[in-house]
Amino acid sequence: MPQPQFFKNALSNPIFNVVSKAASHLQLETYVIGGYVRDYILKRNEPKDFDFVAIGSGIELAKEVAKLLPGNPKVNIFKNYGTAMLKFQNLELEFVGARKESYQEDSRNPAVENGSLEDDQNRRDFTINALALSLNESEFGKLLDPFDGLGDLDRKTIRTPLDPDITFSDDPLRMLRAIRFATQLNFTIEKESLAAIERNAERLTIISQERVVEEINKILLTKKPSIGFELLHRTGLLPYIFPELVALQGIEEKEGQLHKDNFWHTLEVVDNIAETTDDLWLRWAALLHDIGKAPTKRFDKKNGWTFHAHEFVGSKMVYKLFKRLRLPLNEKMKFVQKMVLMSSRPIVLATDVTDSAVRRLIFDAGDHVEDLMTLCEADITTKNPNRYRKYHNNFKLVRDKMVEVEERDHIRNFQPPISGEEIMKTFGLAPSREIGVIKDAIKEAILEGEIPNEYEAAAQFMFQKASELGLKKNNE
Ligand code: CTP
Repeated sequence: MPQPQFFKNALSNPIFNVVSKAASHLQLETYVIGGYVRDYILKRNEPKDFDFVAIGSGIELAKEVAKLLPGNPKVNIFKNYGTAMLKFQNLELEFVGARKESYQEDSRNPAVENGSLEDDQNRRDFTINALALSLNESEFGKLLDPFDGLGDLDRKTIRTPLDPDITFSDDPLRMLRAIRFATQLNFTIEKESLAAIERNAERLTIISQERVVEEINKILLTKKPSIGFELLHRTGLLPYIFPELVALQGIEEKEGQLHKDNFWHTLEVVDNIAETTDDLWLRWAALLHDIGKAPTKRFDKKNGWTFHAHEFVGSKMVYKLFKRLRLPLNEKMKFVQKMVLMSSRPIVLATDVTDSAVRRLIFDAGDHVEDLMTLCEADITTKNPNRYRKYHNNFKLVRDKMVEVEERDHIRNFQPPISGEEIMKTFGLAPSREIGVIKDAIKEAILEGEIPNEYEAAAQFMFQKASELGLKKNNE
């Protein structure tokens, strides 16, 4: 048990004195509660928000705090919920009146009644999120921990304060939060709470996609996202979020031939990529890179198991999945689609690293070629150490070749040195098919290495191609 001084130190930010003063003006019992207290004890990263609970009106408290703060920050009031929020020095201060809540069956929106601190702690999601520190003058810094949240922090356990069926059924988002916290903190979900997630999994369907995705993003951004996806799978939540991933699970055998389990493989790839990039969208690409494998899986005697064109099919599935999950349908989605579409390109290339294939890869991937290489390296999950070493070495060769080719040929974001307009002028052509044919031929010749990526060479090649097509220079 930490010493009382430890908790007093938790309140060294001057904002706590301000809130304490405001509370004593209004004669309101007030506490800081939830994530801040939990993270302080765990010595986690800098806080971004503070949650205050008042035994009485949280809105009145927020207004009084704003009065005492320099610059009198604006108070945002959410009357229906009885909450208020204000921003001060990059921190979000949230205020709520202690509540005794009963949720309606078909909605996350609670019917609210005033309550005591203990009532409020009762209705919070987990014991580790129900820890409160008093801001009342007579007991400033006293820890109020009715459910042994401190013990659960020590035991690295996620547990609900009430019967988990009640806590989760009241607010099904908490099932995902349990898994997200387990992943972020590397904690275990206590047995009863875990079993209740399984029982209540279907209730996830009343949660908005935006809130679901917020939790999935947080899981994806952890050090080891597979912890979360494994729990989603085990508890039966996964089919409500990602049926496409569920479909990847399993190994089939035909005529003595097996294929790998693409679900568990995918989780390994996501963990691998989490070691090399913090980019959320690249992590999404890793999660979705094989989703086309379920609908394209075939077996025939000659070729065994194949997943023909799974990259193409997968990239098409990305759109539907993003739309369903209300993820942005913008350049982030296009990026993920492109990564999925190109996800096998460097692998094919690694067996035979030619200049022209590398030029094509750089040309097609454009600015995302580094990300693509990162994805493909993460995709190596073989347990055979010799093969593992061989694949990584091959990718190293591809990367070296990419630097060499790029230095020489400047293919990245390359625009053919001769424009369609110039072709039109040179041969006195109106917009026509021939222009496209010549332009393409120049691009192909450069990518194939037949001519250098330079104006003179391209112009000469243009004349050669034009004469093959029977075209003459404008003034000839
Ligand atoms: N809370 C809850 N049920 C929810 C969401 C939140 O009981 N569905 C409570 C918890 O006590 C939580 C607090 O509200 O600690 C604040 O919620 P939030 O800011 O979402 O989470 P934090 O615990 O602060 O953690 P993080 O910032 O990592 O999300």
